[in-house]
Amino acid sequence: MRIDIITLFPEMCEAVMNESIIGRAQKSGALEVYCHQLRDYTYDKHNRVDDCPYGGGKGMLLMAEPIADCYEHIWAQAGARPHLVYMSPQGSVLTQEKVKELAGYENICILCGHYEGVDERVLEEFVDEQVSIGDYVLTGGELPALILADAISRMEPGVLAEDVCFEEESHFNGLLEYPQYTRPANWRGREVPEVLLSGHHARIQQWRHEESLRRTAASRPDLLSKLRLTPKEEQIVQEILSKNEKKE
Ligand code: ADE
Repeated sequence: MRIDIITLFPEMCEAVMNESIIGRAQKSGALEVYCHQLRDYTYDKHNRVDDCPYGGGKGMLLMAEPIADCYEHIWAQAGARPHLVYMSPQGSVLTQEKVKELAGYENICILCGHYEGVDERVLEEFVDEQVSIGDYVLTGGELPALILADAISRMEPGVLAEDVCFEEESHFNGLLEYPQYTRPANWRGREVPEVLLSGHHARIQQWRHEESLRRTAASRPDLLSKLRLTPKEEQIVQEILSKNEKKE
């Protein structure tokens, strides 16, 4: 998979993408990441890439042409049209479902917004979708772009250790992950749940699934409405929800 990031702060993006797991994945060839300085595509003698909005108003907008030139350059380099995502608080909110979908593209290009946004026409011409990382506003699209790039990179084969089990992670199957414990079995008087020491695989699986349901019902009941639960699962959820109501 190839990821290109169009930004005014390529060093910031490279600093993050060249570290740790994603950095190693690039070195091993499982992933290619390129960060492009938008200013390199300016045609203005003062290197400007922004201008005032027509009709007046506060703030500046990124101009269409430098973005178009940069994207077309990447397109030519990649040899295929990259799926272009614009990071914006106006986009649809990122979910693991969306991450899985975006990870299916061979080439992905992420455009980071700055100032008050970008000229609408470049969105109409090239942008395939707008993605937000949540209902709050940041100073620029770099942190959101890095979050998206990290989330999709880790889905790519060869990026994480072979034995990572996506199915058991929070959000993969619509539930939050169950609690986990490591040595010692007794820490400051807190015991590891008995069942995890039993060696009984089926019982452990059952316990983990029920804990996932409990956690989801306790902290993210909104996620449950998207699932089809068995009667037993429904009963566990109801127990938790009624306990929550009593607390309120
Ligand atoms: N740029 C500024 N805020 C953002 C957000 N919440 N999501 C994506 N891009 C952004």
